[in-house]
Amino acid sequence: MPNSNFSQTSRPATGELPPGRPLQTEFDTGLDYPRLGSVTFRRGTLTENQEALFNAHWPRLGRVLEDTVIDVDAWFGRAGHPTIVEIGSGTGTSTAAMAPLERDTNIIAVELYKPGLAKLLGSLVREGIDNVRMIRGDGVEVLARMCEPASLDGVRIFFPDPWPKARHHKRRIIQSGTLNLIATRLKPGGVLHVATDHADYAAWIDELAHVEPLLEYKGWPWPEAPVLTDRQVITKFEGKGLDKDHTIREYLWTKK
Ligand SMILES: C[S@@+](CC[C@H](N)C(=O)[O-])C[C@H]1O[C@@H](n2cnc3c(N)ncnc32)[C@H](O)[C@@H]1O
Repeated sequence: MPNSNFSQTSRPATGELPPGRPLQTEFDTGLDYPRLGSVTFRRGTLTENQEALFNAHWPRLGRVLEDTVIDVDAWFGRAGHPTIVEIGSGTGTSTAAMAPLERDTNIIAVELYKPGLAKLLGSLVREGIDNVRMIRGDGVEVLARMCEPASLDGVRIFFPDPWPKARHHKRRIIQSGTLNLIATRLKPGGVLHVATDHADYAAWIDELAHVEPLLEYKGWPWPEAPVLTDRQVITKFEGKGLDKDHTIREYLWTKK
């Protein structure tokens, strides 16, 4: 007789990544991809209220990284709308501020940090925002495994972790391979938008701005951009940078 406890104990809890080695694609492009090694991202816990809200709404609004291409129309319950993926949405401050201004657009927020996703989920539920869905997982893997090639109208990366020490630069998400992967997932005319407050990361991005032949670098500002580029609010990380007198740099590219 099958052990009926087995499936209960082996099934990950709501929104939890499965135990064991995370999915990691071996790319054969010869380009550079973020190498995170054994980095573990902030774990944090949810309050009781957050946990209850998360468990009630995650099955509808969220999913965990898996090896399955998303049926975007089915997930959002509407057909043919533009889709933007935001990688590293943090607590979703700018996500929740921008989404009501782009209700016609499907927004997929990707983040590893569960309390951040729980905070965004709370905002979505409280404010009745219905054009945002969330994926818990590594943004590079989400793009590679869950996003159809040439399917996205935009990709956003706001204030990515700067990894300031030279020996950690290989962990930065903006790399030649990530730019190539993003370009393959964007539709022609789709937009990549990156913002950073970190001068050294900005210099790093400046060096990579023209390396991807599928992307045309537009700089900043680009008033004719076909997607919303005003981030609307100062996020926690942006605010910390401004407190230190950092300059905010924004970057836009379009898929050729
Ligand atoms: C410095 S925070 C910025 C968060 C938010 N965009 C903001 O401006 O407040 C960077 C976020 O990216 C997330 N992150 C880092 N690497 C990631 C990856 N490979 N995939 C998804 N999220 C990632 C981190 O967990 C963190 O919440």
